[in-house]
Amino acid sequence: MQVINSINELRAAVKDWRSFGERIAFVPTMGNLHAGHLKLVYAAKQDAQRVIVSIFVNPTQFGPGEDFAAYPRTEAEDRQKLLDADIDALFLPGEAEMYGENSQTVISVKGLSNLHCGAFRPGHFDGVATVVGKLFNLVQPDAAFFGQKDFQQLMIIRTMVNDLNFPVEIKSVATEREVDGLAMSSRNGYLIGEQRKTAAKLYQALCKARADVLMGNKSYATIENEALSFLQSAGFKPDYFNICNADDLQQADNKDVNLVILTAARLANTRLIDNIAFSKTRTGCCNY
Ligand code: PAJ
Repeated sequence: MQVINSINELRAAVKDWRSFGERIAFVPTMGNLHAGHLKLVYAAKQDAQRVIVSIFVNPTQFGPGEDFAAYPRTEAEDRQKLLDADIDALFLPGEAEMYGENSQTVISVKGLSNLHCGAFRPGHFDGVATVVGKLFNLVQPDAAFFGQKDFQQLMIIRTMVNDLNFPVEIKSVATEREVDGLAMSSRNGYLIGEQRKTAAKLYQALCKARADVLMGNKSYATIENEALSFLQSAGFKPDYFNICNADDLQQADNKDVNLVILTAARLANTRLIDNIAFSKTRTGCCNY
């Protein structure tokens, strides 16, 4: 595994592989790698001859007062996991390499970025779209892998790629969960004591809401309100719990068939997000 810190070195590696006609798959991350990230890495390995993973804790997607400084940085462990996974290159740029002195350009996927998480984290998705757009230009992958765990992010990246004609296929991977259902996340490490047990109730609330939607005898507003009350009584401070059309992330109505329920809630200082995507015509999960 090559560990690459500079853009020039990255471009040279990519050029080399391309000259042999090799297909390149890319997995962007912010590190502190867990089994969810590794699932993306293994999907990428199935897809292409060459796999590049990036680790960059992107400052522009954190708002003031958010956890940029505290975000877990575990470079040595991450390197070992990627070595074990036998990828071709780890791109580990510094902040100056990624943004230079006077970076002024922002990619903003307007409509989608203001909904749900975007309403609570202004500028977050502009930071995500901009850094992913930059990484796509640097790596120039044939395919890039994203988790359904960050469903809104996935939709924003797909829209950006479509609108700006990036020549990259976006592939998604189902959410990896702990045995009690909690979606794996780098932020789970912030949970202490009882909080870790309580955290699993976020997924329970999603499953209950999905069952209620499929049962069909409650309005979506009632289901959302019941979930918010359940989360509050479990000790969360929910930001939102929204039943949406899975294709445009707008509030769902009864005619919509492909749905996603998106939620974010805080447990003390830890903000957790999760979602469940499903179709009203089929049982089980839905792949996006
Ligand atoms: P990060 O949170 O490190 O996640 C990197 C990728 O791993 C994302 O595509 C995310 O959806 C996926 N992922 C995280 N937890 C997962 C889980 N439990 N199961 C499956 N996939 C999971 O998302 C980001 O970083 C950043 O916003 C980034 C796209 C790298 C831009 O900075």
